[in-house]
Amino acid sequence: MLELAHDHLPSHLTSLARRYGNIYRLKCGNTTMVVLNSGDIIREALVKKWSDFAGRPHSYTGDVVSGGGRSISLGDYSEEWTAHRRLAHNALQRCSQQSLHGVIQKQALHLRQVLLDYNGRAADLSEDFTVAASNVITTLAFGKEYEKSSAELQRLHGCLNEIVSLWGSPWISALDSFPLLRKLPNPPFSRLLKEVARRDDIIRTHLDEYKVGVNTEAIAITSALLNGLGKPQDTTQGVVLTDTHVHMATVDLLIGGTETTAAWLSWTVAFLLHRPEVQYRVYDELCSVLDGRYPQYSDRHRLPVLCAVISEVLRLRPVAPLAVPHRAIRDSSIAGYFIPKNTVIIPNLFGAHHDPAVWTDPYAFKPERFLEGGGASTRALLPFGGGARLCLGEAVAKMELFLFTAYLLRDFQFVPAESQTSLPDLTGVASVVLKAKAYTVIARPRPGP
Ligand code: HEM
Repeated sequence: MLELAHDHLPSHLTSLARRYGNIYRLKCGNTTMVVLNSGDIIREALVKKWSDFAGRPHSYTGDVVSGGGRSISLGDYSEEWTAHRRLAHNALQRCSQQSLHGVIQKQALHLRQVLLDYNGRAADLSEDFTVAASNVITTLAFGKEYEKSSAELQRLHGCLNEIVSLWGSPWISALDSFPLLRKLPNPPFSRLLKEVARRDDIIRTHLDEYKVGVNTEAIAITSALLNGLGKPQDTTQGVVLTDTHVHMATVDLLIGGTETTAAWLSWTVAFLLHRPEVQYRVYDELCSVLDGRYPQYSDRHRLPVLCAVISEVLRLRPVAPLAVPHRAIRDSSIAGYFIPKNTVIIPNLFGAHHDPAVWTDPYAFKPERFLEGGGASTRALLPFGGGARLCLGEAVAKMELFLFTAYLLRDFQFVPAESQTSLPDLTGVASVVLKAKAYTVIARPRPGP
């Protein structure tokens, strides 16, 4: 039986893999889950046999937070889901080609100013990273960006974070396993319903503003999503998507695109504090390759040290460490084991990224492993999952990770806060997103070009 309340579940599941092998079965209440812990096995299920394992488990509370299973991330595999995902994918692709680069650069410069305003004082930057990542998505979706102190931003994040944390709480998951409990008063569940209603109000207001033309400037995603509506999609059943799909896609992008990118930035600074010589190497590379200018995403091929740091942080701390649970749509097999229909599949990306059969010294932060002659390949990484459920925001995330990190490391040297007796703790706290424990850091401006 699995203790789900473990404070670092991915690491616990990884230690079980060392004992029971890279694929094992767990019972959690009434649910049987199969945990996959190596890159090969995860790829077999998610990529090679994607059509067998592209489902999502159904749950009563999942339906509550996903508009009745209508979100992309929690919706089950179907013709309607495929059309919905394609609509959002095309909208994001159009943004990536048109405005995304400029939107991220603007937020990176804004973040630079926020860090300068600390005037060399030690600060916890996690909220600043969240605001920067969130502003990329809200600019694309609502045409709006917010200051950290903005009441509107606090309201939006307050309710999204509350939904994610309430939904993961035992008081609420119990409703999935014990239907009789749904008839009893349950204050956390009432709060969840209230927060979902608040979230939906906020998003509806923004979409309505867009439709009446109050705020149409630069709303690339929203216009691309709305333009795709009303036409029978390219499916055998002629699915027609509606406003609800645009609404839920916006929720998906806000939830999927904020805490993930922000957590990754916090991890990067934390790891670099532990290896200042790597931080200097990236800075040196940025200076010599860019000759004082700010980077473009197209510069990434000429910045191997920076790219190696990005890959190594994604390897050690895949911020969605257990991806999102999958469901077997039909009877199938993985690694030669029979997997019955409806089995819940947990891809342990954290485990795959620490597999000693693939990675030398798997727990050490060594970006140099990804440099020429270092012996590691980015092809063995799976931080965004794979197959039909591959992270929808992968392209957006990759551009953000590159540009935010390049801007930050070009302009600042990150040094440990003097008040800190030790460097940041690198174990982290794992829920849906694997986050670094709170730490403070000094962002010391680098001399100008
Ligand atoms: C799903 C990772 C950033 C939107 C996922 C999954 C992973 C992941 C592992 C689950 C895949 C699966 O179920 O097998 C990451 C990482 C990120 C990141 C590591 C950044 C460092 C983003 C961004 C967005 C986004 C920026 C939006 C712009 C989504 C959505 C899904 C998803 C909508 C659900 C896809 C589906 O169910 O079909 N992500 N993500 N993610 N991500 Fe990301």
